[in-house]
Amino acid sequence: MTYFAKTQVFKINPDNPNAALIRRAAEALQAGQLVAFPTETVYGLGANALDADAINRIYRAKQRPATDPIIAHIHDTAQLEQLTIDVPQQVYPLVERFWPGALTLVLKRASSVPSNIAAGMATIAVRMPSHPVAVALLKAANLPVAAPSANTFTRPSATTAAHVLEDLNGHVDIILDAGATTIGLESTVLSLVDEKPLVLRPGGVTLEALREILPDVERSPRYTSADESTISPGQMLKHYSPRARVMLFSGAHDATIEAMRQTAQNYQKVGVLAADEDCQYFEALAILAPLGPEDDLEQIGQHLFAGMRDLDGYGVDVILVRDFGREGLGAALWDRLLRAAEGHVIQVG
Ligand code: TXA
Ligand code: MG
Repeated sequence: MTYFAKTQVFKINPDNPNAALIRRAAEALQAGQLVAFPTETVYGLGANALDADAINRIYRAKQRPATDPIIAHIHDTAQLEQLTIDVPQQVYPLVERFWPGALTLVLKRASSVPSNIAAGMATIAVRMPSHPVAVALLKAANLPVAAPSANTFTRPSATTAAHVLEDLNGHVDIILDAGATTIGLESTVLSLVDEKPLVLRPGGVTLEALREILPDVERSPRYTSADESTISPGQMLKHYSPRARVMLFSGAHDATIEAMRQTAQNYQKVGVLAADEDCQYFEALAILAPLGPEDDLEQIGQHLFAGMRDLDGYGVDVILVRDFGREGLGAALWDRLLRAAEGHVIQVG
C-alpha cells in the first residue's frame, strides 16, 4: 500500500527561512507526516525518526525495499546520545571537522530507536546537515528526522523541489522548495562499527579529506572492485537511473569523444551529459546537458542528477557520458555514473 497525501509545496527562502512555514512543517513531522526538505546535498524525504509508522510511510512513498536503511538527521551533537551507543572516540574529530555537512556516520544503534530505520540492523546512520532550511526544520521539530533522498527508488536523487514533485506527488504531505541544492551528490557514508573505518558510499566529503583525520580509512571493497571497470550486468543494483539507458565511456579524451560520436549516430534521439568543453563535439548529434567546466567537479556534481532528469524529459533513447576521473569528488561522480549505467563501462582504447 502506498501512502496517499495531498502534497503542498511551499517556497521558502534559504537565506532567511520563514518561521511560520518552518513551524507548520515541523508540526507535520511531529504528527507523523512526511516532509520533503532541502539539504546541501540533495532533497530528503523526512519523517520522525522515533516513529516506526512514520518511517514505514517513507519506505512506501519511495517504493523502497525494507532492506535499504535510512539516515537520521540531527541538528545537535547531543542527539547522538539519543540515537547511538558505544560512540568510538574517532567520531569527535570527524564531527568537529565535517559537521554540519555531507558526512554520514554509521554507528551502533540505541535500542530505543525503531529498528526499521536501519532495516533491522543493529546500527544507525546519522548526519547533521548544514542547509539553513534543514537546520531550522530539525530545530523546530526537535526530533531526529529520518530522511532518504526524496526520489522514487532507483531514480536519480532530487536536487530541486520540482524533482521531488515529479516522483512523489501525492505521497508526501509538504515539500519545502528552497531552490537547487548546492552539492547535488549525496553525503559520504562512513561506517565506524567495525575495526577499520570504511566508506560505504563515496559522496560530498572526499576520501582525501577524510584521510586527513582518519589515515586508515578504506573504501568498501564493493566500490573498489567497481573502480576497476566493468562489472557483469545484474551484479550491481540499478540505482540513480534515468529512464533512458546510460552508456558510460572511459579512456583517453579524444578517442573517447570519437567513440561517443560514433555511438550517437546509431540512435534516433541521443542525450549527452557533457563537460562544457565537450559540448562542441555533439552539437549536431545530440541533446546536450552541460554540466560545467571539466576541471570543476563541484559544478559537475551539482548538475549531474538534474542533467539526467532533463534529458529524460526530452525522451532520449540513450544518454552518453564520459568518465570524470576518480580523484576527489570524481570518486562520487564515478559511483553514480557506474550505477546509472548498471555497471557497464565502455572502455575506449
Ligand atoms: O546526502 C544524503 O545522504 C541524503 C540527504 C537527504 O541527507 N540522503 C540520502 O539517503 O542519500 P539515501 O537513503 O538515499 O541513502 C542512504 C545511504 C544508503 O546507501 C544506505 O544503504 C546507507 O546510507 N545507510 C543508511 N543507514 C545505514 C546503516 N545503518 N548501515 C549502513 N548503511 C546505511
Ligand atoms: Mg537515495
